[in-house]
Amino acid sequence: MGAALAEAELIVAGAPILGFRLPTDAMRRSVLTSERNAPTPPDLSHPSMRTWLDALPHGRGRSAAFETRIWWSPGGAIGPIADKLERAGYPRLTKARRFVVKGKYGPLRDGELERARRWGAELAQAMG
Ligand SMILES: Cc1cc2nc3c(=O)[nH]c(=O)nc-3n(C[C@H](O)[C@H](O)[C@H](O)COP(=O)(O)O)c2cc1C
Repeated sequence: MGAALAEAELIVAGAPILGFRLPTDAMRRSVLTSERNAPTPPDLSHPSMRTWLDALPHGRGRSAAFETRIWWSPGGAIGPIADKLERAGYPRLTKARRFVVKGKYGPLRDGELERARRWGAELAQAMG
């Protein structure tokens, strides 16, 4: 990371909710054993969003946060994502977004990908 990120004009960061919150590394590891029947095994080859945000260099850009989730869940991931981005010097450009998946493992509900694309276009427009 480092220099390139600190120069970023906009960071769009998102994560799934697991266990009602932004997943911890321990939670992600435990999914490997607790979710043996998942359609695809979790990909742990990259750092968790939580760890990535904690290592984010201080910057001057703006930010936007999102989460993927089932529709009825309490808790959430966007609160800590948006807070960590703001604390690192990337104030929010827009209200955070929630994208809803079907079932426990996804995929996205019908229409959600289009909503995400529209949001991306709005973000680009807001950045001028
Ligand atoms: C072990 C486990 C716990 C989960 N806990 C929650 C939860 O508390 N709230 C929620 O909305 N979704 C929960 N989900 C659903 C995930 O958020 C969903 O699978 C994810 O958003 C799909 O996105 P991905 O394909 O990027 O992983 C959970 C899924 C798993 C496998």
